[in-house]
Amino acid sequence: MSALFTPFTLKSLTLRNRIAIPPMCQYSAVDGFTNDWHQTHYASMARGGAGLVIVEATGVSPEGRITPDCTGLWNDAQVAGMSRIAAGIKAAGAVPGIQIGHAGRKASANNPWEGDDHIPEGAARGWQPIAPSAIAFGGGLPRVPRAMTLEDIARVQADFVAAARRAREAGFEWLELHFAHGYLGQSFFSAHSNQRTDAYGGSAGNRARFLLETVAAVREVWPEHLPLTARLGVIEYDGRDEETLAESIALVGQMRERGLDLLNVSLNFVIPDVAVPWGTPAFLAPIAQRVSREAGLPVASGWGIDDARIAERVVADGQMDLVMIGRAHLANPHYVYALAQALGKERPDWTLPAPYAHWLERYRGAAKAA
Ligand SMILES: Cc1cc2nc3c(=O)[nH]c(=O)nc-3n(C[C@H](O)[C@H](O)[C@H](O)COP(=O)(O)O)c2cc1C
Repeated sequence: MSALFTPFTLKSLTLRNRIAIPPMCQYSAVDGFTNDWHQTHYASMARGGAGLVIVEATGVSPEGRITPDCTGLWNDAQVAGMSRIAAGIKAAGAVPGIQIGHAGRKASANNPWEGDDHIPEGAARGWQPIAPSAIAFGGGLPRVPRAMTLEDIARVQADFVAAARRAREAGFEWLELHFAHGYLGQSFFSAHSNQRTDAYGGSAGNRARFLLETVAAVREVWPEHLPLTARLGVIEYDGRDEETLAESIALVGQMRERGLDLLNVSLNFVIPDVAVPWGTPAFLAPIAQRVSREAGLPVASGWGIDDARIAERVVADGQMDLVMIGRAHLANPHYVYALAQALGKERPDWTLPAPYAHWLERYRGAAKAA
């Protein structure tokens, strides 16, 4: 019996297995609008057999996009394209999820294959990033953001709420707030990037305020029977890891009290050049387990998990409820089959839609008889 292929129930949803496609930007939108590429990509990810497919970081406002080619849900006209994507995922048997976010001081960047760096100030495609404090990320992202006013904070929170409403209208059933990877939410929580002296900066409680208020406001509009989740970095690998982890776990517990149903445990990426232990397989697994135990909610996690035995083990050992597997699916959209076969499921029919399973069985039978 495989733990990885056991269904997972959260709120009113049951995922067919514990494999999730994490959000992965496609950098292919125009003015935030999705197109045939997004449709094809997400349907094929779902068709591959994962239980959950989460659509890429989608800007809650134009200035909240990571790059000018990122998707958006800041206006009602963007709902139609997203609803086709959600329907395509669902038709292929997966739960349709979406990550909404604001890139903060990392916004206005070039696409990865064009440098992954800030678009220079004054260039037509770029814009002025905003952040809790006027402190640049550094490295390839040197632009100094404008420090947000209290009005900016209220507006961005209202943008999150409006985007959540549109995500539901589009048919998504799983919502992930992007509070990780050095983007706006994460940069409010980290003292590296938040040096405000008002109620949104200073103590850990104040640095948590933006995130907690946003969770509570989104929960009011996101249906109670559907999972509200967040992705949060809980470790920076900057030498202060125990303190960051303890602060993060306290924050996650408070998010749970405000209605968060699951955390996607990730990395902070608030400062460049940190010592992430990339070479250690499933290095986030024990951290995810600790977050789950101490904050008292289910967790998803991933990063570099592309080995069936490891994927199976992290679920079987109770380190993660869901395993996020990204790049292995870009290399092979049917990666779930490869996992199934590696775990000894000779006929992974339970991941196949009926129209395929029926014919494959006959095809294999005929091949054996010949
Ligand atoms: C092309 C690409 C785009 C990504 N975009 C996002 C994103 O939109 N939001 C996010 O939280 N993480 C993003 N990530 C990180 C992935 O969600 C995932 O955590 C990462 O790829 C590590 O998992 P893996 O080793 O299984 O690929 C992206 C990764 C890739 C490769």
